[in-house]
Amino acid sequence: MTDGLVLRTARPDDLDQIGALLVDRGEPVDAVDHRLVVEDPDAGWDACAVVVDGDKVVSTATLLDETLVLGGVEIPAGQVELVATDRAYEGRGLVRALMGWAHERSAARGQLVNVMLGIPYFYRQFGYTYAIPISATRPVTERPDVGGHTLREAGVEDIPAMVRLQDAEQARADLRMPHSPGLWRWLVARDGSTEWLVERDGVPVATGRATPPEDGGRLCEVAAVDEAAAHALLALTGADEVTERPGSVAGEALEPFLGPAAEEANSYYVRIGDPVALLEQLRPVFGRRLAEAGFADQEGEAVVSFYRSHVRLPFKAGEVGPVVAGGRMQAPGAAGGAGVAPDLLASLLFGPHGLQGLTARFPDVYPGPNAELMHALFPPVRGDLMTFYLA
Ligand SMILES: CC(C)(COP(=O)(O)OP(=O)(O)OC[C@H]1O[C@@H](n2cnc3c(N)ncnc32)[C@H](O)[C@@H]1OP(=O)(O)O)[C@@H](O)C(=O)NCCC(=O)NCCS
Repeated sequence: MTDGLVLRTARPDDLDQIGALLVDRGEPVDAVDHRLVVEDPDAGWDACAVVVDGDKVVSTATLLDETLVLGGVEIPAGQVELVATDRAYEGRGLVRALMGWAHERSAARGQLVNVMLGIPYFYRQFGYTYAIPISATRPVTERPDVGGHTLREAGVEDIPAMVRLQDAEQARADLRMPHSPGLWRWLVARDGSTEWLVERDGVPVATGRATPPEDGGRLCEVAAVDEAAAHALLALTGADEVTERPGSVAGEALEPFLGPAAEEANSYYVRIGDPVALLEQLRPVFGRRLAEAGFADQEGEAVVSFYRSHVRLPFKAGEVGPVVAGGRMQAPGAAGGAGVAPDLLASLLFGPHGLQGLTARFPDVYPGPNAELMHALFPPVRGDLMTFYLA
């Protein structure tokens, strides 16, 4: 880098300086989170990079390995977290360089998507768009009255039970991102939030994650086997706010106890480094969607233009692909194709609007003459993502 600064993988002797930088620019708990990640064999020191000025750490970022699952198909993903620059070094492109490092590492690890939470606007500069809405947090207006359950803080030994409860809730979403095994370990060990477990007759029946009372006593990632278990989770944790989880057992059960959400948009950032590789990975999803929409016996080609480039998705006997990449295409309608601005591809594949909803919102998205085919390929997607940090 310029000015004699060096970007390199972090090392164990950077630990204290990285921790101090994260705490100075973020939250006191960030140093603990960072240590949990880099000292865990699943992530390790290679997951973190620093920019140094001589011996001094002046900027840092960490890439966490994640897995998105769309329609049952796994999509390797990466999440950048724990980003900070020393005040005296801001605005010099250090995080831009670290994001470059993270995206290169992500691609080398076979990750096809980057998902993250982050400060407003900033990450758009590195190819991210706001694509997947984050569920609203709502005030608790009434408390359920339910007996017969006990609450305790969950530990490492409870991870399998929590995974089971969360998997069952996430199975109802089109797109999900579960916590990775490492992330579960960090969650039960960290100070920034608490994992709770509700038991009935000694059996785990509900779980959720709560922020400390000084941070609003908020209950998130609620999961339950039935209504009574969800009610017990809310009653026993005494949360003042709940992050809603529409379409889940726990989310539906808690609905009557929650007041209205503030009217503000909140969203995960998503970046797609190589659209063709991602579409190739999603071939089984497209095949299934076409079969379900009655195209199983048909043969043809779906052309989708991103204007500066385009793809052809041949389909036959319920199978889609291989994806064929092509160059500039200004008028896809003439080729029977759809047009999708490239910065809306993440919304198209992972967002709640589908092609039809995006067509209504953006002049540079349209289905073209084969609307039925295109709408079958790109329906609205209901997402349920779980991340290390809470939005
Ligand atoms: C936000 C933060 C990480 C930026 O780090 P940085 O090293 O100054 O960022 P960069 O210089 O690489 O910024 C890249 C570009 O964005 C611009 N930029 C810097 N901060 C910005 C901000 N808050 N919003 C929008 N743009 C910003 C830079 O000017 C630069 O523009 P250029 O490439 O066109 O010259 C740093 O200010 C920080 O540590 N803040 C406190 C902690 C924090 O918010 N962390 C992020 C949590 S998600």
